[in-house]
Amino acid sequence: MSNKKSHYLVTGGAGLIGSHLVDALVESGAKVTILDNLDAQTHPNGKPAWINPKATFIHGDCRKREDWERALSDGVEYVFHQAAFGGFTPQLSLYMDSNASGTALMFEVIRDKQLPVKKIVVASSQAVYGESGYQSEKGEQFFPATLRPLGQLQENKWEMQHPSTGKALKPILNPENRPLNTETIYGVSKLAEEKLSIGMGRQFGIPVVALRYAVTYGPRQSLFNPYTGVVSIFSTQLLNDIAPVVYEDGEQTRDFLYVSDNVAANILVMQNEAANYQVFNVGRGEPVNVNRLVNLLARYYQKNIAPQLTGEYRPGDVRHFVHDASKIRALGWQPRVTLEDGLAQYVQWITQQDNVQEYFSAARDKMRRSGIVRSSA
Ligand SMILES: NC(=O)c1ccc[n+]([C@@H]2O[C@H](COP(=O)([O-])OP(=O)(O)OC[C@H]3O[C@@H](n4cnc5c(N)ncnc54)[C@H](O)[C@@H]3O)[C@@H](O)[C@H]2O)c1
Repeated sequence: MSNKKSHYLVTGGAGLIGSHLVDALVESGAKVTILDNLDAQTHPNGKPAWINPKATFIHGDCRKREDWERALSDGVEYVFHQAAFGGFTPQLSLYMDSNASGTALMFEVIRDKQLPVKKIVVASSQAVYGESGYQSEKGEQFFPATLRPLGQLQENKWEMQHPSTGKALKPILNPENRPLNTETIYGVSKLAEEKLSIGMGRQFGIPVVALRYAVTYGPRQSLFNPYTGVVSIFSTQLLNDIAPVVYEDGEQTRDFLYVSDNVAANILVMQNEAANYQVFNVGRGEPVNVNRLVNLLARYYQKNIAPQLTGEYRPGDVRHFVHDASKIRALGWQPRVTLEDGLAQYVQWITQQDNVQEYFSAARDKMRRSGIVRSSA
């Protein structure tokens, strides 16, 4: 970074993206503070060993005013707000408490204490869009206003259908200016977070940038959380000789982004004034289906294990979603790590971890009981 004495706060700095961001900032010579509540689902063994010893670690929660006050004191100038509650879990109100109210509290504290914060980058998500945009055979674009109806999923009909012809549609890459049609509590909380952040930023005269990340993976992704982090979930299953449980038919596509590319996007928009008050997609723009992900991982772990297609689905899941990231590419960002290279680095990391266990199977009953996962006909 340009100013070596700048003071950065990274919330969620014990997590996947936050911890790598902390390392990059420390490496650049900056002063760094971390605010993280060590969420029990993500960090059941407490503070992870990878937390950079050169950063000041504050064990605190974004839902608590006094913890924001502690974290933002001592002249913090720049905030990377990564802390959030995510995944498909039964704790609905916690998404709003952590992601929406928790972020609003940050602005309250900055205003009330007249803190010298100069810029804030918030972590948003592809989840704000809802289902992918599509193109019909005639080339018309179509952005489904709602998720796929439960009745359709119940009949194992996974693809998005044209509302009048009933024909399957072809997914497109999704730009920032398409409709924001999220219907999940996580997506709504992230949309609230980015909108209130940009709005409060304008009103307080503090530049804010929101980054809508694609599915980000890499070393340090929690090995314990059964509700989120598909690369870790599949990996812990494969390493324990369990066939990865794949929802729908495994042909749904996602955009997988390696963590260092995500970190580079964060740093770029923090440094570049042209990014102020804007939202950006951050993704590779390469559709990867879930079956391909499982097969690649199985190959890396040298396991002859095929995915388990149980006919289950998660209401709220989108069928396809891949970013059009041309807007941030125009600022000079580009993804550098291919899926193959990123997974190879992840695999190298996980195989160095002791006693990798699998937590997904034990959580499955709870997921079924709470309707997070359902069985089709
Ligand atoms: N990883 C992805 O695929 C992805 C995709 C889209 C958006 N995001 C967003 O990126 C951000 C970082 O995600 P990640 O993948 O690094 O997640 P992560 O779970 O690895 O890290 C999040 C960190 O935040 C902490 N945290 C959670 N709630 C908190 C609270 N109330 N107060 C303080 N700390 C809290 C957790 O302990 C954890 O260390 C999140 O805002 C997430 O919503 C992630």
